[in-house]
Amino acid sequence: MSALISPSILSADFAALGEAVRDIDAAGADMIHIDVMDGHYVPNLTIGPMVVKALRPHSEKPFDVHLMISPADPFIPAFIDAGADIISIHPDAGPHLHRSLQSIKDAGIKAGLVLNPGTPADVVDPVLDLLDMILVMSVNPGYGGQSFIPSQLEKIKILREKIDATGRDILLEVDGGVNPETAKECLAAGANALVAGSAVFKGKGSYAENITALRGGAPLTKVA
Ligand code: DX5
Ligand code: ZN
Repeated sequence: MSALISPSILSADFAALGEAVRDIDAAGADMIHIDVMDGHYVPNLTIGPMVVKALRPHSEKPFDVHLMISPADPFIPAFIDAGADIISIHPDAGPHLHRSLQSIKDAGIKAGLVLNPGTPADVVDPVLDLLDMILVMSVNPGYGGQSFIPSQLEKIKILREKIDATGRDILLEVDGGVNPETAKECLAAGANALVAGSAVFKGKGSYAENITALRGGAPLTKVA
């Protein structure tokens, strides 16, 4: 199976977000990545639950909501109500990670855990049974358009082993500086989902061509 592509609307025209969501849906996006920033956990402010709710009728694809907010707990119900299908949180964004993940799972949607470049892979161990997705940040969170940090590839490999050992189908997604070249490396390291803002919205081709170029990073069938 080729990788799932989750374009980040952070790189879209914020004056026309509904159109952007419809366009990437039509171009073959598997999920819609929505970056929520609070100006506190990260040095930038973006989208709240009202905007997520307003975007919901524009696509039936899963909304992959990345919360870069602290504390996250008070806002989790509003994002669930707004139509999030996956909510991912950072382990250092609140006092009780397990409780936060439980609150997402109890609502019947998928839960993700996000690892910043400085966060070790082991942080997933005590909560692995609650996770539907692990999101590896390959840039420091806060902005689109940054360069991929290659040291994160080793962490992707470690997480792939941890996921395989569970026998469960936990998505392993990478976010930050993903382009057709770095996508190949992420997939070879074991990722199966990719977030891309600049590479989709500001890439060389149409949205469909840009998404296809990212999928082209799938491991090639070995030629004998
Ligand atoms: C960064 C965000 C990313 C960002 C990726 O904090 O979490 O999702 O939009 O943008 P690119 O693909 O441009 O690095
Ligand atoms: Zn993100």
